[in-house]
Amino acid sequence: MTREEAQKRLQELREQIHYHNYRYYVLDSPVISDAEYDALFRELVELEAQFPDLVTPDSPTQRVGAPPREELGTVAHRVPMLSLDNVMNEAELREFDARVKRFLDLPPETDIEYVAELKIDGLGVSLTYENGVLVTGATRGDGETGEEVTVNLRTIKSIPLRLRPEVVIPRLLEVRGEVFMSKQEFLRLNAERERTGEPLFANPRNAAAGSVRQLDPEVTARRRLDFIGYAHGACEGVTFPRHSEFLDYLRRAGFKASPHAQVCPQVDAVVAYWEEWQEKRHQLPYETDGIVVKVNEIARQAQLGTTAHGPRWAVAYKFPAEEARTKILDIKVQVGRTGALTPVAIMEPVFVAGTTVSRATLHNEDEIRRKDVRIGDAVIIHKAGDIIPEVVRVLTEERAGDEQPFIMPHICPVCGTPAVKPEGEAVWRCPNRTGCPAQLEARIKHFVSRAAMDIDHVGEALIAQLLEHHLVQDPADLYSLTLEDLLPLERMAEKSAQNVLEAIERSKRTTLPRLIHALGIRHVGERGAEILAAHFDSLEALAQARVEELSAIPEIGEKTAESIVSFFAQPETQQMLEKLRRAGVQAQVPPRPVAPEESPLAGKTLVFTGTLQRFTRQEASALAKQAGARVSSSVSRKTDYVVAGAEAGSKLEKARQLGVPVLSEEEFLALVKEEGP
Ligand code: IVH
Repeated sequence: MTREEAQKRLQELREQIHYHNYRYYVLDSPVISDAEYDALFRELVELEAQFPDLVTPDSPTQRVGAPPREELGTVAHRVPMLSLDNVMNEAELREFDARVKRFLDLPPETDIEYVAELKIDGLGVSLTYENGVLVTGATRGDGETGEEVTVNLRTIKSIPLRLRPEVVIPRLLEVRGEVFMSKQEFLRLNAERERTGEPLFANPRNAAAGSVRQLDPEVTARRRLDFIGYAHGACEGVTFPRHSEFLDYLRRAGFKASPHAQVCPQVDAVVAYWEEWQEKRHQLPYETDGIVVKVNEIARQAQLGTTAHGPRWAVAYKFPAEEARTKILDIKVQVGRTGALTPVAIMEPVFVAGTTVSRATLHNEDEIRRKDVRIGDAVIIHKAGDIIPEVVRVLTEERAGDEQPFIMPHICPVCGTPAVKPEGEAVWRCPNRTGCPAQLEARIKHFVSRAAMDIDHVGEALIAQLLEHHLVQDPADLYSLTLEDLLPLERMAEKSAQNVLEAIERSKRTTLPRLIHALGIRHVGERGAEILAAHFDSLEALAQARVEELSAIPEIGEKTAESIVSFFAQPETQQMLEKLRRAGVQAQVPPRPVAPEESPLAGKTLVFTGTLQRFTRQEASALAKQAGARVSSSVSRKTDYVVAGAEAGSKLEKARQLGVPVLSEEEFLALVKEEGP
């Protein structure tokens, strides 16, 4: 390549990388995959290495990271948060090992001890502990300065508010680690956003970043985030001879520290570790994009030192991207159990993340428009949360011009009823709740599923037959099926019919959360059902509840409350409940789990009044909720504590009249901090 050509290509690469940095770090909404980004970045690094005099101060290689968002305060890291160099294959890993030995002046046959860890795909943060107490939490930012997100990070339960007293408490410790979202929580959050028409998060990493880098800690608290520690910055008052000992220290101090970390006596063991986890990574509850390899001995780390980009003693060894290229053959509309019309891409079958897929959800009309997906397009797909096939992006540059834009039908494709799209929602729905065969089929499938009534032997084929023969009008009709009903069905021997009936019979003894979940109330998923069951003790009580009572339950929003009330108000629901009762379906209330290290505020009702010095009201509420308390706005005999700030008025007075204990801000804080890890 000539100098001129290189100059031109460098310019292009820098512009592209700047743009993709902005999409990724600022908007939390990337338009290319991590693998594609890495390829661009590598090309830039390599070209700059060939033409070092063409490196400019504004090249992305000179500054890795995100500019801080202006609304959040900033924090200067005492020790910079470095990034890591990547290796792409075994040969490059061995080259790294050789480089380490050369730098340390060791003969090539020496074995270097490494720690291999999973590289968790989340958001790097730094937590500052002064005398064992968490005082500041910050994002990585540009590596030198990050955003101050202390109140948000405090809502994450796996972040200890203070180090456990079992360990030596250092004067100062910056714990570095990854905030991340589990695959399960990511899917739950996106399903919720899909219903309400909010733009979906591309992956758990972006969801975690979006949840931490925003201004309302209550929002952060509602998204169940997690934290894993793997490094330290400034550290005064403790030392560690080995990285593996630091990880042990973190565990004893109350952190989850690199859960599957392994000490590797030499580089061969690192290779084996990578191979093992590249196979097993889909079994993990969170996403990983590779492994991180670190020289174990701290003295050697110090000798190796760092470059502007990253440490010489560590490297990231990525897993191959779990993405695949395919073609959209058609877009069909599926009808869900709540009548939601979901466009689904029918694709040329392709192997991705362990299975062959030929269908991918397109979620809703807005998502199709956002991604500009057309029939005939070549696309890149992946599995969201490692489970749900999804279009990442369209290869628009490969369009021939005859691709067909998709038009969302405004009638139900199964029963022909005109579809509706309520104000403020993104999803078109078939309103024919009782008459639409597709909805009934989906409702029954849901009713018998693992997480609901868990009825074995009632699979898709049988459900289709039952509907065809009009043997069930709602899920409760399963309980009145007889041998005479089943035997005439195709391919139904007496033995299988008996198995079906026995499985149905067994399901009559179930738990209340399962039964509530099985009913298929809109907005009530598995977790919602658990919360409701814990609050109401019986289905009858839930059926009588009013919107105000329901929405007063923490984690139950107004929309969900309204949906529950309207569900139980329907005559069809009443009929179904009556059938379940007559069939003898009995829901046991599970005993409440008693956590051994429960916070003193768990289950208590708190009221805040007056002006607090250290927090806004919102932040204080988020803290209280994190500690398991309920926050109410008015004082009654049921109130356990009133937290009074400056100039507290009538609520404080009422608390005194009723004899409700009053806490100062400091006392409240002390109780919050008493929470277990
Ligand atoms: S160590 C100086 N260990 O990956 C060493 N990083 O690409 C600093 N990451 O910025 C990082 N899992 O946000 C380390 N087990 C792990 C990690 C990890 C994920 C992230 C981290 C870092 C990025 C580098």
